[in-house]
Amino acid sequence: MANVLGLAGSLRKASFNAGLLRAAAEECPDGLAITIGTIAGVPLYDADDEAANGLPDAVQTLQAQLADADALLLVTPEYNNGVPGVFKNAIDWMSRGDGLKHFKGKPVAVIGASPGGFGTNLAQAHWLPVLRTLGTRPWFEGRMMVSRAGQVFDDDGNLTDDKTRDALRTFLAGFQASLG
Ligand code: FNR
Repeated sequence: MANVLGLAGSLRKASFNAGLLRAAAEECPDGLAITIGTIAGVPLYDADDEAANGLPDAVQTLQAQLADADALLLVTPEYNNGVPGVFKNAIDWMSRGDGLKHFKGKPVAVIGASPGGFGTNLAQAHWLPVLRTLGTRPWFEGRMMVSRAGQVFDDDGNLTDDKTRDALRTFLAGFQASLG
C-alpha cells in the first residue's frame, strides 16, 4: 500500500481544492491511500519565533506525516496567477528544522481547481521552482486542472461531477504507476 500525503492550500470551509482532495481520497485506486493533512494552524513564518520556540505543533505534525508518506499530493488554488501565500507558507515551515530530508526524492503531484477557465494552470507551474529547490521528484505525466469549479462542486465544496471524478481516477492511477 502506497501512502500519499494530500494537502489542500485553502482554509476556506467550502474550498473547491479541499473538496478536490477529499474526492481524490475517495477515488484512490486499490493499493493507494491518501492521508489528508491540513495547513490550518500553521502560523505565518517568523524566523525570530522559530529561533525562540522551534517548530510549531502544526508544522511538526505535517513533517511527521510527510516522513511517513511515500508521495505528496498538492491541491493548489491559484491567487493572482501564482501560489497562494498561505499554502507556500506551510511548505516553507515544513522545510525547516530537518524537514528538507523528507521532501528529498519524494514523488509529488500537483492538481487544482478554480472557478475561472484555466483551472490553476499558472499556480501549478508556479510550484515548480519550489519543488525543484526542495529536491522532490515531481510527476508530470498526468495533468488535472479543474476549471469552472462552481459548476462541478456543490455549496459545501463536494465534487459532484462524474466526469471530473473519472479524470481524477485516471490521474491517480498514473501517479500510482509512477511510484513503482
Ligand atoms: C483568486 N482567484 C483566482 N482564480 C484564478 O483562477 N486565478 C487567479 O489568478 C486568481 N486570483 C485570486 C486572488 C485572490 C487573492 C483570491 C482570494 C482569489 C479565485 C480563486 O480561484 C477562488 O477564490 C477559489 O475558490 C480559491 O480556491 P478554494 O478556496 O475554493 O480552494
